[in-house]
Parts: sequence; structure tokens; C-alpha cells
Amino acid sequence: MIIAVDGPTASGKGTIAKALAGHFGLPHLDTGLLYRAVGRQVMLAGGNPDDPHAALAACDFPEAMLEDEFLRSEEVGGYASRVSVHPDVRRALFERQRAFALQEGGAVLDGRDIGTVIAPEAQVKLFVTASVAERARRRWLEMQSRGIAVELAAIEADIAARDVRDTGRKDAPLMAAADAVVLDTTLLGRDAAIEAAIKTVEGHRP
Ligand code: C5P
Repeated sequence: MIIAVDGPTASGKGTIAKALAGHFGLPHLDTGLLYRAVGRQVMLAGGNPDDPHAALAACDFPEAMLEDEFLRSEEVGGYASRVSVHPDVRRALFERQRAFALQEGGAVLDGRDIGTVIAPEAQVKLFVTASVAERARRRWLEMQSRGIAVELAAIEADIAARDVRDTGRKDAPLMAAADAVVLDTTLLGRDAAIEAAIKTVEGHRP
């Protein structure tokens, strides 16, 4: 069974995908990490993430980059969002994601275009979303807990800008697949969101 979990940044899709993988005993790939590794590689090379050539060259990142401690930072997230608009970058990362989805026994992948581009044949597609204000609040709390001082308004502006870039790009824009189940987590706590996702998968599994 392939489970596709898509949605905007800080919607809770990563937490949900991880929990689904644990519950159903499936391997999990956070595809955002691949784009983040490309963004980080451009950053380290001092390149411009808006330049398609610099971004494509960075797709050759070393495997160890996936363990880079800065990968999950807001700054790398911004770079990831910028390199991910280039069609050549998306093409370069396609096979790796596709092979992961098609492995024997199935898999859970989370990202932006899993249900639409990477694995349109997925048996279950979830589109996890939440209001911008709630996503900003969650990201802010998470950063507070890590001792990072940032303004809530700055996070909200950053998330809104990232949404515009992710939904507005020509190649594989962020959108719910026609056959996706939309899960709005704005008013749901972590456990309730996971429970709703498990129920959805159980109702759709082959
Ligand atoms: O999910 P995460 O915030 O880690 O993703 C970082 C960036 O990578 C996103 O803002 C998005 O632009 C890009 N991305 C993408 N397609 C995916 C996963 C991530 O374009 N499947």
C-alpha cells in the first residue's frame, strides 16, 4: 500500500506521515528533506537558489547532507522552497522518490506532490492542511522550545510567502489531488489528527 501525505509547511503532515508509517509498519520518506539538502548544498556553495544551473548542480549533494544539523532550519527551508521551483531539480529528485514509493510492501511519503506527480496511483492520499495563523503558532512554539527567539509575525509572513511559492509554481504546484482526502488540523490536537488519519487509511486500504 502506498500512502501519499501532502500539504503545506507546518500543517502536521510530517508528524502524521511518521505516525502512519509506524502504525501500518511501512517505511517513510520525508521528501522535503531532499529539497532541503539541495537548498543547503547551494547555500554552502555560496550559489543563488533562484539560478536553475546552481540548483541543478546541487542535486548531486553527498548522502551525509541528509544528516546535516541545519537541514530543518527556517533558512534552509527558504532555500529549499526556492530551488524546488526549477523543473530540472524536480526531475533530478523524481526517480529516488518514485523508487521509494514502489518498493515491495509499500511506503508512506510526505511532501507537496506525492499524490499528484510522484505516486498518482497511491491507494490512499491525504492532504493535510491548517490555517496560516495556526501553522505559524505551531512553528513558533516549536522554535521557542528549541530556544530560538523569533517573532510570531515574522514566521507567519515566511509561511505565507512559502505557500505562495509552493502553490504558484508551474511545475508540480502544491495542491490536493482530485482523489485526496483533505484533513484540516487547525482545530485538532496531535493525537486527534493522527487518529483521523489512521481512520482515513483504514477506510481506503485495498
Ligand atoms: O516539507 P518541507 O518544509 O521540509 O519542504 C521544504 C520545501 O521543499 C517546501 O517549501 C517545498 O517548496 C519543497 N518541497 C517540494 N516538493 C516536495 C517536498 C518539498 O517542492 N515533495
